[in-house]
Amino acid sequence: MRTLFLLIVAGLSVAVAQPQTGEVHIAVETRKTALVIRVDKEQNPTIVHLGQRLSRPDEYARIPNNGKRGEDYTGIYNSAYTPAGSRNLLEPAIQVTHADGNPSLDLRYLRHETKPAGDGIVLTTVFLKDPQYPFEVTLYFKAYQNEDVIEQWSSIRHTEKKSVTLHKYASANLYIPAQHYYLTHFHGDWANEMNPSEVPLTEGIKVLDTKLGTRADLFQPPSFLLSMNEPAQEEQGEVLAGTLAWSGNYQLAFEVDPLHNLRLTAGINPYASAYTLAPGREFTTPAFLFTYSTTGKGTASRNLHRWARKHRIPQGEGNRLTLLNNWEATYFDFNEEKLTALFKDGKRLGVDLFLLDDGWFGNKYPRNDDRAGLGDWQENVKKLPHGLGHLVKEAESAGVKFGIWLEPEMVNPKSELYEKHPDWVLKLPNRQEYYFRNQLVLDLTNPKVQEFVYGVVDEVMTKNPTLSYIKWDCNAVIYNAFSATNPNPSHLYVEYVQGLYKVMERLRTKYPKLPMMLCSGGGGRVDYGALKYFTEFWPSDNTDGLERVFIQWNYSYFFPAIATCNHVTDWGKQPIKFRTDVAMMGKLGYDIVVSKLDANELQFSQEALKTYERIKNVIWQGDQYRLASPYAGDVASLVYVAEARDRAVWFSYLTKDRYKAGSVAPIRLQGLDPARNYTVRELNVFPGTRSAINDKPAVYSGNYLMTIGFNPNVDSRRTSVVLELAEAR
Ligand code: DGJ
Repeated sequence: MRTLFLLIVAGLSVAVAQPQTGEVHIAVETRKTALVIRVDKEQNPTIVHLGQRLSRPDEYARIPNNGKRGEDYTGIYNSAYTPAGSRNLLEPAIQVTHADGNPSLDLRYLRHETKPAGDGIVLTTVFLKDPQYPFEVTLYFKAYQNEDVIEQWSSIRHTEKKSVTLHKYASANLYIPAQHYYLTHFHGDWANEMNPSEVPLTEGIKVLDTKLGTRADLFQPPSFLLSMNEPAQEEQGEVLAGTLAWSGNYQLAFEVDPLHNLRLTAGINPYASAYTLAPGREFTTPAFLFTYSTTGKGTASRNLHRWARKHRIPQGEGNRLTLLNNWEATYFDFNEEKLTALFKDGKRLGVDLFLLDDGWFGNKYPRNDDRAGLGDWQENVKKLPHGLGHLVKEAESAGVKFGIWLEPEMVNPKSELYEKHPDWVLKLPNRQEYYFRNQLVLDLTNPKVQEFVYGVVDEVMTKNPTLSYIKWDCNAVIYNAFSATNPNPSHLYVEYVQGLYKVMERLRTKYPKLPMMLCSGGGGRVDYGALKYFTEFWPSDNTDGLERVFIQWNYSYFFPAIATCNHVTDWGKQPIKFRTDVAMMGKLGYDIVVSKLDANELQFSQEALKTYERIKNVIWQGDQYRLASPYAGDVASLVYVAEARDRAVWFSYLTKDRYKAGSVAPIRLQGLDPARNYTVRELNVFPGTRSAINDKPAVYSGNYLMTIGFNPNVDSRRTSVVLELAEAR
């Protein structure tokens, strides 16, 4: 077979013949990146390049195997999808037991196809097959040209006589030769999400995973940054940002192999999840998403942000509603009168919507704390004698829309739902029940439970068609993982998530425009699998302004501002200006008692909301540059630059409480047009204070601002500063 390359030159297709090698090269390319699969003469599919796209595709054939570092005893260290059990010696992507009990797999290339899939997307499909068994794996690569993002997944099927057991079934298996590897991963717990750790990878395997089932990311999310050669900086260095689009148990394995090359396998966690695949059926893995940058973490994040807004998050390029939430204002203690007063407060503040949180339901077991009522989605007649419909009307006549909190996947043992349907709950016979926040998880692998969960939302929406927002919470992990009705106990973790997505898919089909917040006791479930259905997510219950600078900083590596819900609350000691400035770097909301604000605080908040209305599109749709890291100095600084580069909104915060701490030197801007001039104006100036920047307005060139910089003058008296840059015409 001859190697042929298709070279697109100025719209012309040019076939370039290569010397006869008996090899095929499949290049999955975006504007800047290429993932190249070489098929050798034995039809083994191996990865020979993941990095910058070459200008001459015929030169992919010249790339040496395995970084040319020595002998590969298997010939497949760099397999594009490593099969276990035959000659492989390293971490597999797939491990199966065939119908006849044979525990080995071999995968050889059959054919591939590449076709446009609309919207700047090219889909490459590579078909692989076991030479001895009717067992096939198909690899899919969606290359988002303009965003430089590749979405990769696989599907598995067979026509053996009986079922095959899949022990492991990864989404992606990548291979990257470099001198050194540095992994930045994120870990934490409730109210302490997304703490970064950067570690050099040495020979052996580093695994990031979760076995928590539902609130799966409580300890760590399926998102990481991998730097090659040197630890990447914001605007320099080679880095791959990756994330698995899956809301359940995942496993990311980083293996530095005997040749010192990096092997990455990403997918569903094989833990307790052997999957029985019947003949003729297909198993499709979730997608692994990645972007590769040679210009640091900043470019990688901006690629993912753009991709998410355009291709993943519902209304990613649309609008969002500001809101007032009552959770921290009332907790479970409210009634119609209190809520009606809060609607008026919301209007006075100037938000779009009032969000009624937990505690509105349950009668036999009223939801007056987190120990009872979950699962009984009927209005509590004592708190809300006139029902939700009445509240919706009251809110609307006060001038705000109405939204509601739900946690439909969960149940308190003290509930009518549990009494009626004990077999709908995940729990083990002959074992003590374990509770997380006094609750258990419903069995979403059961179609009847899926129907129930769908019905909870559908009924609320049908009865209250103008209800404008749903906060979907998920506060428990899965203990005692067992379903009373699922014939395959080891399918539970996988089919739970599939059941959840089925419900979400149905809901999104019926309510395509409904804004929905993805919440999981804070950030226990933030991934691009769920964010296909949710317009926004709740990063953490920790809303302390200073803590949030760090939490939001770290989420921003992967998720765009428009999807990041930030609320101004009473957590933290910072002044309301600080907390508001921080919350503005995303989707702004409030969870405070408005009537307790003093006159200046109220005026400040009202004006801030008006300002936000004017600048929100720059924050939501602009390119984000992280300018100064809170981990490196006294100040954190981030700017959002409009695509047209005519406007920017720049946030800076004091993050250290030391004598003389502050922005002692100018901070260099990024992303502006060097040839244009910009006015710099301070926003969110607290009533009664003055801005020296606004007192002496000046115009600077983009060149000056990006070369010399500008000092926002952050110090202990000005702990947060928001500046607007507008093109001077
Ligand atoms: C956890 C969420 O993160 C909070 O915002 C709040 O909705 C509570 N659950 C309610 O129980």
